[in-house]
Amino acid sequence: MSTNQLDKKSQAWSALFSEPMSELVKRYTASVFFDKRLWAADIQGSLAHAEMLQAQGLISAADWEAIQKGMAQIRSEIEAGTFEWKLDLEDVHLNIEARLTQLVGDAGKRLHTGRSRNDQVATDVRLWLRGEIDEIGVLLIELQKALVDVADKNADTILPGFTHLQVAQPVAFGHHLLAYVEMFARDAERMIDLRKRVNRLPLGSAALAGTSYPLDRERVARTLGFEAVCQNSLDGVSDRDFAIEFTAAASLLMVHVSRLSEELILWMSQSFGFIDLADRFCTGSSIMPQKKNPDVPELARGKTGRVVGHLMGLITLMKGQPLAYNKDNQEDKEPLFDTVDTLKDTLRIFAEMAAGITVKPEAMERAAKKGYATATDLADYLVKKGLPFRDAHEVVAHAVKDAIAAGVDLSELPLDKLKTYNPAIEQDVYEVLSLRGSLNARNILGGTAPEQVRAQVARHRTRLG
Ligand code: ARG
Repeated sequence: MSTNQLDKKSQAWSALFSEPMSELVKRYTASVFFDKRLWAADIQGSLAHAEMLQAQGLISAADWEAIQKGMAQIRSEIEAGTFEWKLDLEDVHLNIEARLTQLVGDAGKRLHTGRSRNDQVATDVRLWLRGEIDEIGVLLIELQKALVDVADKNADTILPGFTHLQVAQPVAFGHHLLAYVEMFARDAERMIDLRKRVNRLPLGSAALAGTSYPLDRERVARTLGFEAVCQNSLDGVSDRDFAIEFTAAASLLMVHVSRLSEELILWMSQSFGFIDLADRFCTGSSIMPQKKNPDVPELARGKTGRVVGHLMGLITLMKGQPLAYNKDNQEDKEPLFDTVDTLKDTLRIFAEMAAGITVKPEAMERAAKKGYATATDLADYLVKKGLPFRDAHEVVAHAVKDAIAAGVDLSELPLDKLKTYNPAIEQDVYEVLSLRGSLNARNILGGTAPEQVRAQVARHRTRLG
């Protein structure tokens, strides 16, 4: 096939085709306008393949030299923005190969020996995704560090803890934030784990059946930093489970971001008034002059739907495909690219936003006081005086009912009134009924006592480096 032929898609395949593609079909089948993003991985993969072809005596040293030169030229053209991407050449792979052949002649045409675009594209996507996973890992650490810093400053800050969005028990605001650090730490673990399965080399699977050339796949894997070689050619070219797995982990990560977003939005609303987000993460209203809206967390909550949508798209893409490669797989790229972009932007912006949160401890404490958050503490107090827990629960329910009717907190009931519920109640009950007493009492591994929160902060700091 001459350079000219490869330039014209209508003739690029073989003499078998008797009519050219229509413009619509060309546009429909082409992927170059999105998969050109894989260019660096494509060049990297091709160079590793060519180096191995040369080492195996399948191409000459002169060809290998020419391919390196040509690829260096192509790299600088792409970086400079002067590379001419052609729709006629369908995808990133054919565009780069055609330009290589234009630049170095026959050596360029020998590059594709023992290779198919099927194993080439699978290799490119894996290489590219591996790099993105590593960047996401760094961003996840930054976000966790930002949250740990705020938690550290708020190990003593009292927040009403909720269940069913009803005031339940007081918790330290720092403890609450560290719950998200735990979630993001697991997200990071998932990324590290799935990276192992992304990091396997399909190249050498060729179109689907392997190849008759004596390729050294282990050598290519070493050159490209892959941990293993795909052991079945049909599987190597066709499965995209690694992309699905990544998008599933990304979806879960976004769900965690979305839960945090929902809380930030609630906390910033007038009814809660627990925090303020820095102005640069908010917008105003064109009609209501008093408004400051938490746009960034709202968008993050919305973008979670978009990433979960990509997961649905990718998993559905796979489900009906017979072995081995099918063109369906070309549809894996846009959802994957968008997932990565959305995730990286979101993580960056959240790390910045977390660092700029203004905490309003008085408002948090006031809200905690309103909801009889220490009722469980009173019950526990009675248990320690010998009452069975279920009876203590019942006694306290009566006390809360009376306190509600009187419009006061449990801690505002006088001792002689409290004694009417149970004579074992003494003066020391007031320490138990205080929010701070309640917080300090939960001094157990994983509990909300400030001492525990500080210990967790220290553990996270060591872990995150
Ligand atoms: N652009 C294609 C993709 O993204 C490359 C592989 C095409 N292979 C083929 N036999 N048509 O999947």
